[in-house]
Amino acid sequence: MSEKKNPVAAAAEKAVDKLQEAIQGGNEIPGVPASEAPALQEPTEPRGPLPPKHDQRGPETYSPTGQLTGTAQKEVAQGGERLTTAQGTRLYDTNHSLKAGPRGPVLLQDHHLREKITHFDHERIPERVVHARGAAAHGVFQGYGSAARLSKAAFLGKDVETPVFVRFSTVLGSRGSADTVRDTRGFATKFYTSEGVFDLVGNNIPVFFIQDAIKFPDVIHAGKPHPDREIPQAQSAHDTFWDFVTLHTEATHHTLWNMSDRGIPRSYRMMEGFGVHTFRLVNADGGTTLVKFHWKPKLGVHSLVWEEAQITCGMDPDFHRRDLADAIEAGAFPQWELGVQTFPDTEEQMFEGIDLLDPTKIVPEELAPVQPIGLLTLNANPSNYFAETEQVAFHVGHLVPGIDVTNDPLLQGRLFSYLDTQISRLGGPNFAQLPINRTHIPVNDMLRDGMHQTAVHRGVAPYRPNSLDGGCPFLAGADTGAYIEVPAEVPAARKVREAPASFDDHFSQPRLFWLSMTPTEREHIAAAYTFELSKCWETAIKERALLVLANIDAELCAQVAAGLGLPAPEATVRPAAVEPSPALSQLGQTWPADGRIIGIVTDGEDLDAVRSVRQAVLDAAMVPLVVAPVGGRLGTGADALDVQRTFTAARSTEFDALLLAGSPPPGADAHGARDAKVDDATAQVRAVDPRVLLMLSEAYRHGKAIGAWATGITALEAAGIPSDAPGVATGDSARTVLENVTELLGNHRVWDRFTPAL
Ligand code: HEM
Repeated sequence: MSEKKNPVAAAAEKAVDKLQEAIQGGNEIPGVPASEAPALQEPTEPRGPLPPKHDQRGPETYSPTGQLTGTAQKEVAQGGERLTTAQGTRLYDTNHSLKAGPRGPVLLQDHHLREKITHFDHERIPERVVHARGAAAHGVFQGYGSAARLSKAAFLGKDVETPVFVRFSTVLGSRGSADTVRDTRGFATKFYTSEGVFDLVGNNIPVFFIQDAIKFPDVIHAGKPHPDREIPQAQSAHDTFWDFVTLHTEATHHTLWNMSDRGIPRSYRMMEGFGVHTFRLVNADGGTTLVKFHWKPKLGVHSLVWEEAQITCGMDPDFHRRDLADAIEAGAFPQWELGVQTFPDTEEQMFEGIDLLDPTKIVPEELAPVQPIGLLTLNANPSNYFAETEQVAFHVGHLVPGIDVTNDPLLQGRLFSYLDTQISRLGGPNFAQLPINRTHIPVNDMLRDGMHQTAVHRGVAPYRPNSLDGGCPFLAGADTGAYIEVPAEVPAARKVREAPASFDDHFSQPRLFWLSMTPTEREHIAAAYTFELSKCWETAIKERALLVLANIDAELCAQVAAGLGLPAPEATVRPAAVEPSPALSQLGQTWPADGRIIGIVTDGEDLDAVRSVRQAVLDAAMVPLVVAPVGGRLGTGADALDVQRTFTAARSTEFDALLLAGSPPPGADAHGARDAKVDDATAQVRAVDPRVLLMLSEAYRHGKAIGAWATGITALEAAGIPSDAPGVATGDSARTVLENVTELLGNHRVWDRFTPAL
């Protein structure tokens, strides 16, 4: 199928064409709510549903049994020009209940009212018990062929294109919680391969809190809000979380990653992804290799700073969701390389002394380099959040020939859990028939009936062997594509509730991670622990956390203890002699600035410069947002510029860099009663609008690049930012300043503005 004409690739091409059309039409800033601009008056001429926006597509139109239906995607939801009931009967009114006279009681006979309200009453399904908050996109995976010697999976073959659906998520928060909380992020990928669906259900952190799935309900109960008051939402800064992770010291490694900048990603597009567990690949000759899966983002790994993350929770709780959708809409399709670390499949399943079955351990890339095996491109947004992002059901047990599991006890428990939870969340056992979950190849499974059955099965003999249905379905063999488990040896052993002794090492790898961080990253970690533990009520829990930190590193422990006002304890475990792994640091490299958001602050003067720099931002594949004192358009005629953000609505956290194209004086609404961001005392005496000064001071302390030219330099000075400070670009020409700012963005942030103490 997908080897030849891939529908996703075709959709991507179309999206790019549409984008170009949109750009020519002057509508290039993402975020337009509908595929057509609305008229001022309510339309009265009947017409069919509007097509999806150029950046959107839905699931492929396969039948519940995996056959291509041939139905155009845009026709799978609503159709026709007229409002109807669910049965297709046309309606003449949907705004008034059927009543006994205009002022009379509503009649029970009103079947339309009852159908509409009954359906509404059941619009919600239970949210995921974990990873409830997420955002997703369609895309395509292209195999490099380099994995062929490791795995016979067809989708890993050279140039094979496979449609995918990827859902990113936070773990702890409810569906409506904010995106930028400190948490692990889910990175779940559904590959619709020519041999069935394969799900790689990973996270942006390569280790997990626990070593055995039996503790999963416990760690989640501890991380979720306290059961009495149901607070705090979507965060780990509370007593039960720290109580658990300090009593189960196997959680130390994952917790340390969470307290690092990995816990507050800048964007889903700038996260690594990890399969966490060790998997087993099988090649065409039956040879096996143990592997760990890695997703490497083309844009590099980049994070928010903590204050920025907190402000964004209020300013734009949908920050990551919006960022992903806008980037795809703008044609800046995010990409990741899939890679594997490979290890010999030996009896003991250890590599360089690291237990490959322990999900709290990584294998440093310096010991086992990540070998690229394919490229993921996300190129279309879902057209309906509920139908696709909410109803998608991932499962680590969705495997294809060539990929098998290992005895990692966490993975073994997950193999049970996902199927089980989805029966409850998706209301029965037939969720594989939901359009987003359907495989793209024929299904003949002998599973019948059940809630929400949408397949109309034929035949009388859903059992095997049978003669009444002509013997169908027939079994496959190794030569006809059957999934055959690797006949791995199970050692003769006693039944026990125990873990291997190697699982007892809880501190050597946290120390390895800590020692691999740059001074700036270490400062962030110490600050994160201090923040989180300061929010705990119980001193005993803080003291216990310090005991854990002492076993990672004395300096880290001392820093956090000082912040908490508590004595730093001695280590109880001798510090492990470990080699740092520079690959774990996310600083020190240069990355493309594609899709980054550039705020262009204007006072409405010198619009030629604003126009030209805005175009230059677009040409550099970044997104310009014009920020002006009030909304509307700047200038007149065809050259007029739309204002995207007013000083009241803007906040520095939305931008990766700021360009000052002018020096706006305080606006009429620049006082505390109108805009709570304004400090009245300074508003009166400053020559520059205080909202602009706030944006500048935040951008500066969040390590963001700032550029200014002409009168913009005056605004910079008014904010007390020296024009020769690190990461500040000034000059005569807007375009030269932008070039410098783009170069600064290549390092993500300007960390040399600050001198780390650690
Ligand atoms: C390495 C460890 C783990 C990773 C990387 C992981 C990852 C994920 C991800 C990414 C999701 C969200 C899927 C989506 O976007 O729909 C998820 C959901 C979930 N996970 Fe895990 N998880 C891990 C461990 C576990 C364990 C040990 C259990 C239970 C024994 C578990 C149970 C669940 C459940 C119940 C859901 C909700 C699924 C749904 O409603 O669709 N997870 N997990």
